[in-house]
Amino acid sequence: MLEFVTTGDGSKTIYNSEIGENYHSRHGALQESRHVFINSGLVYFLDKKASSPWKDPIAAGLEGVVSIMEVGFGTGLNFLLSAEYCSAKQIKLDYTGIEAYPLSAEMISQTGYDQYVPQDTWNDFLRVYPDSLRHSPVDLNEYCQLHTAHCKLLDFKTDRQYDVIYFDAFASINQPEMWDEESVGHTIKFLKRGGVFVTYAITGNLKRTLKSLGLKVEKAPGAPGKREMLRAVRCPDA
Ligand SMILES: C[S@@+](CC[C@H](N)C(=O)[O-])C[C@H]1O[C@@H](n2cnc3c(N)ncnc32)[C@H](O)[C@@H]1O
Repeated sequence: MLEFVTTGDGSKTIYNSEIGENYHSRHGALQESRHVFINSGLVYFLDKKASSPWKDPIAAGLEGVVSIMEVGFGTGLNFLLSAEYCSAKQIKLDYTGIEAYPLSAEMISQTGYDQYVPQDTWNDFLRVYPDSLRHSPVDLNEYCQLHTAHCKLLDFKTDRQYDVIYFDAFASINQPEMWDEESVGHTIKFLKRGGVFVTYAITGNLKRTLKSLGLKVEKAPGAPGKREMLRAVRCPDA
C-alpha cells in the first residue's frame, strides 16, 4: 500500500496506492517542503513578526519562540526542516503534527531525509519520534519540542493556538473531506490572531471558507510544478 518513489529533485516521497497519491509533489518533495512550508510559512511569519510596528504584549513576551501545527505529519519532512531552521537561528520551536495514520520509524528511516538536515537532528528525530506519538511533548534538542498527535484532524483537541499552521493534507480530489468547511474551520480554531496558514494548493472553495472565517487570503507563487499556492493570515480582530 505504501511504496517509495523518487521525485523530480531527487528526494524521495511515499506513494499511497489506496488513496492514489504521493505524500509530496512529484516535481520535488524537498523543494516543495522548503518553498511552501518553510519559506512561505515559517520564515514569512518570523519576518512579519520582526518587522511589525505593532507590538502585541503577548507576542512581545514570546520573542524567539514559534509554535507550529501541521495537519498531516507523514514522514516528518516539514518538521525536520523547521527544526533545522529554528535550531540554526536559536529560535525555540514548539511543533505539533496531527497524523491519523503514523508511519513507522522504520519507514521514516528509509526516506533518505538524513541528507537534508544535520546528522544530530536526524538521529534525535528517529530517537524521539516513537515517544512523540505517546507523550506530549518530547524534546528533540535544546530548541525544539515535538508532539505527534495520533488522531484524525476532527478529533484533535487542545486549548492552545499556534503561530503557523502547515496544512499538508492529501489533495481535495482524493480526500475532499479534509478541505471542507468543517475540517478547515476546525483547523483555523487553532490559529492565533496574526498567525499564518499555508498550503500547497489553492481553490475557490478554500479561499471562500478562509475569508468567511476572517482570514486575509493571498495567492503566493507555487512550488515548482504549481503556479500558485495559498497563504492566509488571521486578522487581529477575527
Ligand atoms: C500529503 S500527506 C502529508 C505529508 C507530510 N507532511 C510529509 O512531509 O511527509 C497527508 C497526510 O495526512 C494524513 N491523513 C490522512 N487523513 C487524515 C486525517 N483525517 N487526519 C489527520 N491526518 C490525516 C495521511 O496519513 C498523510 O500522512
